[in-house]
Amino acid sequence: MKIIINGSNGRMGKAVARFIEQDSDMSAVAFVDINNVAASDDPIYENLTDFTGEADCIIDFSHHTCTEGLLEYAVSRNIPVVICTTAHTDEEKAMIKAAAEKIPVFFSANMSLGIAVMNEICKTAAKMFPSANIEIIEKHHNQKLDVPSGTALLLADGIKEIRPAAVYNIGRHENGKRTDEEIGIHSLRMGNVVGEHEVIINTGTQTLSIKHEAHDRSLFAEGAIAAAKFLNGKAAGFYDMTNIIKD
Ligand SMILES: NC(=O)c1ccc[n+]([C@@H]2O[C@H](COP(=O)([O-])OP(=O)(O)OC[C@H]3O[C@@H](n4cnc5c(N)ncnc54)[C@H](O)[C@@H]3O)[C@@H](O)[C@H]2O)c1
Repeated sequence: MKIIINGSNGRMGKAVARFIEQDSDMSAVAFVDINNVAASDDPIYENLTDFTGEADCIIDFSHHTCTEGLLEYAVSRNIPVVICTTAHTDEEKAMIKAAAEKIPVFFSANMSLGIAVMNEICKTAAKMFPSANIEIIEKHHNQKLDVPSGTALLLADGIKEIRPAAVYNIGRHENGKRTDEEIGIHSLRMGNVVGEHEVIINTGTQTLSIKHEAHDRSLFAEGAIAAAKFLNGKAAGFYDMTNIIKD
């Protein structure tokens, strides 16, 4: 597969390039980044539109503000796209859905296959124990800007699919008893923790604790590569990690 890496000079873009180098089924045909172009060992395109060669997929680890241009390019060239950026506006999310009517689009706030499996386990537990108290704890390094993490919200959204009345209580800071509907979400910021997410389900008679620890950010690049392979030969549509693990 021929891959375009968008955001190739970033931490994740470089990790994607390393995985592709080791994969005999893949090759990186274009590196695209607006910054530090001169500092890179690879020939870099500053604009996606400058690359007109053949490609089977774009892996995007740039910035959510690139989404509109990225999708215009992908649709105009009929190239499937794996969007790994986070923090999209509602407008950008709508653009992603609209593009998915024309080309295969893979989009997930967390590209970890482990988190995808965890999400399914949490949904099963929420279904089995409809009145259990559910709380989520996430830990990240002290440089992280967003609170709670997109992944904590992804896990909460998964549970909310099973419990539509669920209400998120982010960082519980008011006195008073918890309600049955609430899902508490708690964020810890410390040191250089790559990312930990724990969903705790207490039924009153037993507790399930489902935990994922990321040891290295390259696991997200690994997931992006799996997503690109998954999209190969797929029809236009919107795909996420659920599709991979149910395939
Ligand atoms: N979905 C996931 O699992 C997951 C995991 C890790 C990171 N991310 C997201 O991926 C994105 C990148 O993360 P990172 O840690 O590699 O960040 P980074 O800042 O190290 O890299 C981003 C790169 O994108 C480049 N860039 C910015 N605008 C661009 C544009 N218009 N065209 C081309 N390149 C552009 C930057 O110059 C930079 O080199 C962020 O949105 C981050 O939240 C998602």
